Amino acid sequence: MMGIYVHIPFCDSKCAYCAFASFVVSNQIKREYFDHLQAEIATSHENDKVDSIYFGGGTPSSVDSEFIVSTLKLIKEKFDVTKDAEITIECNPCSTTKQKLEAYKKAGFNRISFGVQSLDDDALSLIGRRHTSAQAMQAIALAREVGFENISADLLLSLPQGDVTSDAQKLIESGVKHISAYMIQIEDGTPLKRKVESGEIKLKDEDQTVDDYQKLTSFLQKNGLNRYEISNFAYSGSESRHNSHYWTGEKYLGFGLGVHSFDGKFIRQANACNFADYYAGKKTCESLSPKERDEEIIMLGLRCKYGFDLKKLSFDLASQPEFNKLLKQNVLNLQGTKVTLNPDFYPVSNSVIINLTKNF
Ligand SMILES: C[S@@+](CC[C@H](N)C(=O)[O-])C[C@H]1O[C@@H](n2cnc3c(N)ncnc32)[C@H](O)[C@@H]1O
Ligand code: SF4
Repeated sequence: MMGIYVHIPFCDSKCAYCAFASFVVSNQIKREYFDHLQAEIATSHENDKVDSIYFGGGTPSSVDSEFIVSTLKLIKEKFDVTKDAEITIECNPCSTTKQKLEAYKKAGFNRISFGVQSLDDDALSLIGRRHTSAQAMQAIALAREVGFENISADLLLSLPQGDVTSDAQKLIESGVKHISAYMIQIEDGTPLKRKVESGEIKLKDEDQTVDDYQKLTSFLQKNGLNRYEISNFAYSGSESRHNSHYWTGEKYLGFGLGVHSFDGKFIRQANACNFADYYAGKKTCESLSPKERDEEIIMLGLRCKYGFDLKKLSFDLASQPEFNKLLKQNVLNLQGTKVTLNPDFYPVSNSVIINLTKNF
């Protein structure tokens, strides 16, 4: 099985915290991009079955739905897409309309991921979001009305206003089945970084953020949403297949500006990050060394409930003293050859991973 990721690098405006490859451009430039994107898809060759397609960005809902619909149609013609494939589109509430949602549904999308971030209007305006909390709730209600059952919402941790747990409560009451909660990253070159450095914005500190995260986790777990990765929670059966493919190191193909593809073994290809080079077909290709691949398997596996299989590594981790120490301390669990991180240690997963991989 294989996943497909399609990058739509456009937004209606830039949020203060975001450093993703996304641009505010004219419809003419969007049209040109989709011509190249569709040419890239039309000339690719892969025989593997596809059970997950993800249109991300940027903001796929910010472009004319015809661009999205024709691109998905082409993917379905070119690839062996399974009947039950998960087909997701990322939407921003401010560009979500009934007409677009109906077009997505008709085209075969069966999962929507909304960038909600917060349901506190002061927090939303502080981080430069163009929508209110009411608009976010309206977009979710509209998606349900159109027939989408599998809806996810992104929330941000560390915002100075609002309460992420009460936001999550409202979201699950509105029918959301999956929540991603990311700690806000202060990215170089963003207005948020400048404002944090000048003292104009004061985000919550690490202790407060961890506290919010723990409260959110226990609230969601009590309400039946399992934490299947550090930042991702879902009812059983609503876990994102797209995410799970990535964390378990399976093969995926990326189309669009700056995307990566991975053969599921050692070869990773990256498309160029600027439009001119992407349109000229420039790519870079790297072959991961066995050590790099081992590190990646451990890092991705320990951040989610799937863990990793000792047999996938190129060396005998089970004979390493640090590994056995972490097993004795119940930081790691071992079942057969499958290793998982005890979820109590998710907030410190980075230091566990560093300890485990430092002597490779
Ligand atoms: C491509 S965006 C989602 C769709 C749409 N563009 C939107 O924002 O509504 C993916 C997610 O990345 C997260 N994100 C972007 N920049 C981030 C940052 N600096 N720190 C943490 N999360 C970030 C946000 O939660 C956002 O919802
Ligand atoms: S968070 Fe989403 S809408 Fe905001 S700039 Fe980034 S990709 Fe665009």
